[in-house]
Amino acid sequence: MANSLHTLPNASRLGFRHQFSGADSASALDSAFGSLSFPSQLLAPSLKSVQLTKKVKPVMAGNIPDHVSVDISLSPRVNSVKPSKTVAISDQATALVQAGVPVIRLAAGEPDFDTPAPITEAGINAIRDGYTRYTANAGTLEVRQAICRKLKDENGLSYTPDQILVSNGAKQSILQAVVAVCSPGDEVIIPAPFWVSYPEMARLADATPVILPTHIDNNFLLDPKLLESKITEKSRLLILCSPSNPTGSVYPKELLEKIAEIVAKHPRLLVLSDEIYEHIIYAPATHTSFASLPGMWERTLTVNGFSKAFAMTGWRLGYLAGPKHFVSACGKIQSQSTSGASSISQKAAVAALGMGYAGGEAVATMVKAFRERRDYLVKSFGELAGVKISEPQGAFYLFLDFSSYYGAEVEGFGVINNSESLCRYLLEKGQVALVPGDAFGDDSCIRISYAESLSVLQAAVERIKEALEAARPVVPV
Ligand SMILES: Cc1ncc(COP(=O)(O)O)c(C=O)c1O
Repeated sequence: MANSLHTLPNASRLGFRHQFSGADSASALDSAFGSLSFPSQLLAPSLKSVQLTKKVKPVMAGNIPDHVSVDISLSPRVNSVKPSKTVAISDQATALVQAGVPVIRLAAGEPDFDTPAPITEAGINAIRDGYTRYTANAGTLEVRQAICRKLKDENGLSYTPDQILVSNGAKQSILQAVVAVCSPGDEVIIPAPFWVSYPEMARLADATPVILPTHIDNNFLLDPKLLESKITEKSRLLILCSPSNPTGSVYPKELLEKIAEIVAKHPRLLVLSDEIYEHIIYAPATHTSFASLPGMWERTLTVNGFSKAFAMTGWRLGYLAGPKHFVSACGKIQSQSTSGASSISQKAAVAALGMGYAGGEAVATMVKAFRERRDYLVKSFGELAGVKISEPQGAFYLFLDFSSYYGAEVEGFGVINNSESLCRYLLEKGQVALVPGDAFGDDSCIRISYAESLSVLQAAVERIKEALEAARPVVPV
């Protein structure tokens, strides 16, 4: 058994390094920061010279000494799940910055703004007032009532507090919902490009993700006819995300109505509507909550959260709203895993919801900045040969089709043949960290997060343009 440690695919990544520096930095970073998909190659000439002086304690593979026999197998469920590429690339870019490489990080889905002051004040006051104990599993009545008011006023949705479940981020809300409603073998319908976690969450629930492609020429919006053709008796959940991560597309109400008509014909089919980017939307686009459409309230699980619009990623607060039967089931899972969310964050969330319609002035100011950045990037990349753009109507991402560059051979790098090698090339040559589209189910594109200041974005565009100069598109667009 002890021998199996040496045959572990990751064993070499797990340790036995006392110190790394200089030319060794490529593999050292690889070892230190885990099994990312393109680390060792990306640390080509320019990055290899980085001096890393961090001392690492000698560790045995997986911290299990050689002489101890341990069965290191993992559950098939975990083995079927891929780690989040966006998190991996963000961590990797951060590691490079810490190592002194001036990488511009446009990979993370995190606003660059600070949490607005009224929210942080409420959090600080909660701590000062000793509001530091467990809350009810579903969240405090105060925050659930505030969420109900928000859903009524802003989304036209009627819920009572027992139809709301507050969790540690929308991510937890979505996972619990998927696990609560899916049985093994059920199908979860996910339009692509998708947020990286949806298919993996389906797998964690022993369900099968059914990916429905969309097209940039159609603003990455789901074709209702394609949806209709893919629904089977196993279809249990359709996941919609509007405004979308990664495309920034916003589903118009008329399209959602067409989707609702199709969904209504299938009693087994529920809809999870991820509305976390709801407030980050650029007029004239408007947000429609799927549950507000005729006949959809009963079968829709609405997810929202505070991370994006309120710049509260670290506070970890999201929620689910839906019929009590489903919400209680999710609450049961939560009660046996994390219990209620942070008491302090819940107080902060009440303050966030008290800042006015759609977050009031503070959120409007951030959205205005996002819009300026979007306009700048759309214009800048519009000038670049071989790039296809669908102008985002919301969120803070640009999902650009760079596939005309695939096939290009660049001296000193090799062939750019997919979104991953293009991102690797842009990181290596331009020192800009972006996320390959294949992580989102569309290999023709790459995602740029514009949750960064305009001046940083300007520098990034310059670097990307310069790097791409050397890799002119193979197919003119
Ligand atoms: C589409 C989408 N849904 C949900 C989440 C999860 O947000 P959180 O768990 O921070 O509330 C994210 C975060 O990146 C997201 O992009």
